[in-house]
Amino acid sequence: MACATLSLLDHLLITVLLVLARDIITAGVVIAPPPTPLPLPWLRAPSPTPRPPGLGAPARTPLLPPPRTGTPPLTPLPRPWLEAPSPARVPPRLGAPSRTPILPSPKPPRTPIVPPPQKRTPPSSPPPWLGAPLPSSLFPPPPLPPPRLGTPLPTPLLPPPQYAADPPPPPPMGGPKVPALIAFGDSIVDTGNNNYLTTVVKANFPPYGREYPGHKATGRFSDGKITVDFLASAFGLKETLPPYLNKNLTLEDLKTGVSFASAGSGYNNATCRTSSTMTIERQLQLFAEYKAKVGTISERALFVVCSGSNDIVEHFTFADSMTSPEYAEMMARRAIGLVEALIGQGARQIALTGAPPVGCVPSQRRMAGGVRTQCATDRNQLALLFNRKLSLEVAKLSGKYRGVNIFYVDLYSIVADVVQRYQALGFKDGKDACCGYVGLAVGPLCNVGSRTCPDPSKYVFWDSYHPTERAYKIMIDDFLRRYTRYIH
Ligand SMILES: *[C@@H]1O[C@H](CO)[C@@H](O)[C@H](O)[C@H]1NC(C)=O
Ligand SMILES: *[C@@H]1O[C@H](CO)[C@@H](O)[C@H](O)[C@H]1NC(C)=O
Repeated sequence: MACATLSLLDHLLITVLLVLARDIITAGVVIAPPPTPLPLPWLRAPSPTPRPPGLGAPARTPLLPPPRTGTPPLTPLPRPWLEAPSPARVPPRLGAPSRTPILPSPKPPRTPIVPPPQKRTPPSSPPPWLGAPLPSSLFPPPPLPPPRLGTPLPTPLLPPPQYAADPPPPPPMGGPKVPALIAFGDSIVDTGNNNYLTTVVKANFPPYGREYPGHKATGRFSDGKITVDFLASAFGLKETLPPYLNKNLTLEDLKTGVSFASAGSGYNNATCRTSSTMTIERQLQLFAEYKAKVGTISERALFVVCSGSNDIVEHFTFADSMTSPEYAEMMARRAIGLVEALIGQGARQIALTGAPPVGCVPSQRRMAGGVRTQCATDRNQLALLFNRKLSLEVAKLSGKYRGVNIFYVDLYSIVADVVQRYQALGFKDGKDACCGYVGLAVGPLCNVGSRTCPDPSKYVFWDSYHPTERAYKIMIDDFLRRYTRYIH
């Protein structure tokens, strides 16, 4: 009996690993509930293979040449995956039109490129980037068509690392009066819509929701609340943002905002097919339905659009006959299409996020980070490529739609900052998942039979793809610190 069970589960695991490898993006996949009483000790995570010493500590060796003073010429980036954090790379270039775009146009003089004032001691050398890149011979930089790609990242810089714990300031009181929060995208902002879909990409079973009020597994891909819950709460709207597909919502619930997002989805239709989740067209369709229910949408409602991570994983998992630049272009085109559709439907205030450093989530480190489970640089490069295109497009949109406040959110550096400074932020582990089979963490198997760490607040990642509630909270505090001034 035990043997039969074991081999059934083995079979399921292997199925997940081999056949459903594409679902690595869909943390929390449970193909079928384990059919036997739990716990199943023999299934507990095989003890992780011995790791080389020193893996717990982030690489502190500076990976970048010291910042140049003076204005660097427009040269191709030596190591694309290193580009984000170097302050030297983004010299203020007065008059260059491509710089202004990040700023939502409507507000007069701002100093957007400068990271919000933070008392941080500048490091003596540039910050080590996420996971030391493999020797460059193993990762020849992709041919970068200059000059476009040689231009500095038009995004806010990753602020210099800060090595002392520094509690984030509370969101400013009497801040923006946002009457509604409306989210589109993937699991980062899906508060449970997938519960109502026919998909395996769900998180409505323990141990998901362990830290959620009432210890309820709501379909959020974390141990507790996620991004948009903290945002709704910061704006004084409600403690949690409901998923639109919950049919129990009152008119008041609807009016203060909902999420239309679907975990596992992406801008690419193929990504959504892989996970049987809602495409952006479907999310827009639901939004039209929502509008019919609530009547008008306030001009001050904040729309948050956050997607792209799953597309990046999809690109590295299945042949799609596109080069990375082409793929990034396609993603950006689809993202802008969604934003323009929202504007057409009445959205007047939109926060469009870039992709996070997908290569640094536990599953991608396992898949492509080598024996030391470094951040997978190819994923991060594609994220940066997409982000660059997206932020440039957002700038154009700001010019095109004068009455619309649209701003690009540098999610990459918000997440990278937590991954990089996890120790200073009070985490014990910045690279492994709290929940899941450590030795088999290719698939994000996080279910009642999984090994789960005793204290998720010590982990940046809850499952092999998603941050813990505590990490999300820190990220949202950072978002508010950086972007509250752009929200009217
Ligand atoms: C909706 O309401 C019904 C009846 O009150 C309840 O049984 C059900 O659990 C609720 N569903 C959700 C998702 O809240
Ligand atoms: C994605 O699918 C929708 C239909 O659901 C279709 O209208 C759209 O053109 C497709 N987009 C792309 C880029 O394939």
